[in-house]
Amino acid sequence: MNYGSLLKHRKIGFIGAGNMGQAMMKALITSGTVPKEHIFATNRSPGKLLKLSEALGVTSVNTNEELVDMCDIIVLGVKPQDLVGVLEPIASSFHDGHLVISIAAGFSLQTLKRLLPEVLGLARAMPNTPATIQKAVVGYCLAEGAEAYEASVEEFLKPLGLVVPVEEGEMFEALTVSCGSGPGFIFELMLYWQEWMEEHGFDAQSAREMVVQTFAGAARLAEASPDVSIQELQDRVTSKKGVTAAGLQSMRELEVERALRYSFEKAVIRDQEIERGTAKQ
Ligand SMILES: NC(=O)c1ccc[n+]([C@@H]2O[C@H](COP(=O)([O-])OP(=O)(O)OC[C@H]3O[C@@H](n4cnc5c(N)ncnc54)[C@H](OP(=O)(O)O)[C@@H]3O)[C@@H](O)[C@H]2O)c1
Repeated sequence: MNYGSLLKHRKIGFIGAGNMGQAMMKALITSGTVPKEHIFATNRSPGKLLKLSEALGVTSVNTNEELVDMCDIIVLGVKPQDLVGVLEPIASSFHDGHLVISIAAGFSLQTLKRLLPEVLGLARAMPNTPATIQKAVVGYCLAEGAEAYEASVEEFLKPLGLVVPVEEGEMFEALTVSCGSGPGFIFELMLYWQEWMEEHGFDAQSAREMVVQTFAGAARLAEASPDVSIQELQDRVTSKKGVTAAGLQSMRELEVERALRYSFEKAVIRDQEIERGTAKQ
């Protein structure tokens, strides 16, 4: 294995080994960025942790405090509503040599800095679930004064997929919604597609396969033609007064774009509520 040069001697600790934490661990190990012996994790329910350490060969640690003491890079992988309760009792274990990467939605760098005042290397990252297959979009931003950690953060996130540095604020919120939540919105569309095909005689499995291939095919076509705009790709499917044109006209008359924009704005508001601590559970 050719381990990442900046990370190869670092011990990485995950507080919270849930869906996203596990996806990140898998990507780091399978890409050869970090040896599994250098990955440590805690989790609230011990059963999940046991299964994980058996499956991936990472080391489970009993307490968050112990984990912070033994690791150089700490990933905060718990839900936003659990984060303050996790950090407050162990804040004094952190020091200025730690790099802390939070993946909690709606949790600003300012709030993290307030909770972990000793830490200089503070970063926020926003991955999405295709991280499990190393096809994520991951945005990240660094706290003021953490610029020296940029290369390590990039190397750490690179195995997950496309890594994009983003300014905190409006752009980070937009990335959280369009890319972090994005797969959820795409799956909603895929559900409508599949249901419609089933209503027209396809069995569920065939409909699913064809929907997946249609979405993946369109995305791969766009990926394979980086110099062709999405508009041009759409024009190539759409002959004048043809079948696609008729469907597109209805999509525009029914204002699908407006519905999506409205949904994105609602999601941004929720992200802001989480950040202000006013989100209803
Ligand atoms: N899923 C996504 O698409 C996505 C995308 C971007 C960012 N994120 C962010 O990633 C974070 C995790 O999301 P997720 O989907 O992975 O959630 P999840 O599957 O619920 O994972 C959170 C994990 O944290 C554990 N945990 C809770 N309290 C703990 C404590 N005190 N000490 C140690 N572990 C503790 C939970 O343990 P239990 O086993 O007891 O539940 C759970 O396994 C969230 O902040 C979310 O905003 C998620």
